[in-house]
Amino acid sequence: MTSNPEDQEVNPEHDSMPVGDVSRTIWSATISDLDALVALEEACFSAPWSRKSFEAELEGNQFSRVLMIAHPESTHDMRAIGYICVWIVFEEIRFLNLAVHPDFRRQGMGKQLIQEALGQATAVGCCRGMLEVRATNMPAQALYKSFYFQAYATRKSYYTNPTEDAILMTLEPLIP
Ligand SMILES: CC(C)(COP(=O)(O)OP(=O)(O)OC[C@H]1O[C@@H](n2cnc3c(N)ncnc32)[C@H](O)[C@@H]1OP(=O)(O)O)[C@@H](O)C(=O)NCCC(=O)NCCS
Repeated sequence: MTSNPEDQEVNPEHDSMPVGDVSRTIWSATISDLDALVALEEACFSAPWSRKSFEAELEGNQFSRVLMIAHPESTHDMRAIGYICVWIVFEEIRFLNLAVHPDFRRQGMGKQLIQEALGQATAVGCCRGMLEVRATNMPAQALYKSFYFQAYATRKSYYTNPTEDAILMTLEPLIP
């Protein structure tokens, strides 16, 4: 995923409505989800995005969409257990970040988040997906390959903490 989004540009409004057929469990994050996003991020990454980064995605970037997911069996609250951040930029969807809480992995949550993001992207005419992933992150690469993303290049030492190459992957056309 993108190493640090902190320098990105300034706001417009966000769609804060639940989305798609999975509206019970997936929703578009708003600033009220900030604490949950930061907590999730810190549970998932060695170099987590900062609160400021999330604020920029939620309120400062017209291209950004942050989708959150709660466990389908969570009846009395909507405790977030995963999120995806994408930019939908004209014909392209760029994956910025994706995370599922360690206690809830291998239950299809990552897959559902990607499906929803790709569905939203195709609905507005996107035809290409782009992402970066750590070279040693085999779970994420397996997940992306299951959507037919293909590796096409490497960026040397793109990531820090620890320093690591990025694998660049693309999907064209989009298959939600
Ligand atoms: C990558 C991540 C988001 C996957 O989330 P998840 O909810 O566990 O993934 P899913 O259950 O939807 O997995 C869907 C498919 O992806 C592949 N996959 C996911 N995790 C895998 C693993 N640990 N090993 C091998 N394949 C894996 C499998 O094909 C899986 O299908 P299957 O379970 O039927 O075999 C999660 O491991 C995570 O948050 N990791 C830490 C943060 C991170 O690396 N984010 C990605 C940054 S690029």
